[in-house]
Parts: sequence; structure tokens; C-alpha cells
Amino acid sequence: MSAGRLLIVAGTGTGIGKTHFSEALLLALSGQYARVAGVKPIETGMREATVSDASRLERVSSFHVKHFGYVFAEPLSPHLAARETATPIRLDVLVPLIHAAQADADVLLVELPGGLFTPLSDTEVNADLVHALSPDITLLVAPDRLGVLHEVLSTHRAAGTVSVELNGIVLVCPERPDSSTGHNGAELERLLSVPVVANVGRASPHALASSPDLKALGKRLAHIWAA
Ligand SMILES: Nc1ncnc2c1ncn2[C@@H]1O[C@H](COP(=O)(O)OP(=O)(O)O)[C@@H](O)[C@H]1O
Ligand SMILES: [Mg+2]
Repeated sequence: MSAGRLLIVAGTGTGIGKTHFSEALLLALSGQYARVAGVKPIETGMREATVSDASRLERVSSFHVKHFGYVFAEPLSPHLAARETATPIRLDVLVPLIHAAQADADVLLVELPGGLFTPLSDTEVNADLVHALSPDITLLVAPDRLGVLHEVLSTHRAAGTVSVELNGIVLVCPERPDSSTGHNGAELERLLSVPVVANVGRASPHALASSPDLKALGKRLAHIWAA
């Protein structure tokens, strides 16, 4: 069986709309592919979560992937949650599990916890997991607000130091827009060689899935993957 496509959803931080965007993208991709699934292989804060990211992604997947990975109760950085519970997060365990799920799907979306440089252990960060996975596409989600130019530019530079290529930036409209909202995308495209592939407005994942930006992103990915 040939492997499906592996799409990483990374972010500049937490609480910025990574899962919300992922839900919308999974719904948009379901129109083009039969077996589309989203997973969250490292999740913390389950004690406080009313619904886990893993469940949110599963609900909009068209294809069931058996749960795997690391789940922690405390709302801490993964490396701290791992240390406190004496459960080291091992990339050599995660990578084959993710590749196995990828092999079964047409598209496997993997949402990373926190930001691209959030620590997973004392020596490894999310970006090291991305590097080890060799994904087909890595998208960086960032909030469309003041400060995002620094967040995206610094994350992009740092990603280069660990040979992680960012293929697209996704800007999510924050709950409270500011004077920069709506203008950051054009600035990022001037300052970076990475395209802004979607501007995500404030709406439900289902409504966003049929928005022009998400539809265009779905088509863009299908086009890249068909080549
Ligand atoms: N574009 C959006 N429109 C409406 N609500 C959003 C949007 N993006 C995020 N949210 C809401 O903001 C909260 C944080 O978003 P979430 O996707 O969970 O962030 P992350 O995965 O980056 O931690 C959630 O309640 C989510 O539903
Ligand atoms: Mg999330």
C-alpha cells in the first residue's frame, strides 16, 4: 500500500486556532479524499479540557485512526508533564506510529502541541519531531494580530536551523482584532519566501470549510500532491 500524505499543523503558540483550523481543513479535504484523518499524538491538559483536541479532530475525520501517543492530565508543557509522570516522550516510538497511520490514510493531519519550538524533552522540541517525520507539507498557524511578524519570522529562522521547511503560513483572525489584523498577511509575504496559504475568519469549522480560502487551500494541496 502506498503511503498517504502527511500534513503537519504547527503553530507559533497555543490557543491560537490550530485545532479549529485543522478541523476546517479536514472537512475541506474530505471533499477530495476518501480517507482523511486528524490526530494529536501529544496532548497535555486533559484534566481541564471539556473535549480533547484528539476528539475534535477525530469527529471531523472521515477515516478512523486508532488512538496513539502521549496524553497527560496536567496543563503543562509536554516536557514537564512527561517529567512529572516519568513518561518520556520518545520520538523513536512516535515516528513509526505516525507513519503507520499515514500509510493507511489518503491524508493524515498531525497537530503538534503548543508552538514549533515547544520542548518535548530536555533535548528535543516539536521541530525535531517534524524533521524526523519528513512530512509532505508543514503549515505554520499564527494569530493575525500585532506581534505576529516577530513570531513568524523568528519561528521561520529557527526552523531553518533544524532543517525544517515551512510550506505555508495560516493566519487566524483573533477573537479581538487589532489595527494590524488583515494587514499582516501582505507584510509576511513581502518579508518571507513562504506563502500565506489561508486567512481564517471567525466562524465554525464547518462554515470555514466552505470558505473561499479553505477551499482554495484544499485544491492547492490536491494539486501539489497530484504532481
Ligand atoms: N477562526 C476561529 N473562529 C472561531 N473560533 C475560533 C477560531 N479559531 C479558534 N477559535 C476558538 O478559540 C479557541 C482556541 O482555539 P484552538 O483551535 O483550540 O487553539 P490551539 O489548537 O492553537 O490551542 C477554541 O475555543 C476555538 O474554537
Ligand atoms: Mg489545539
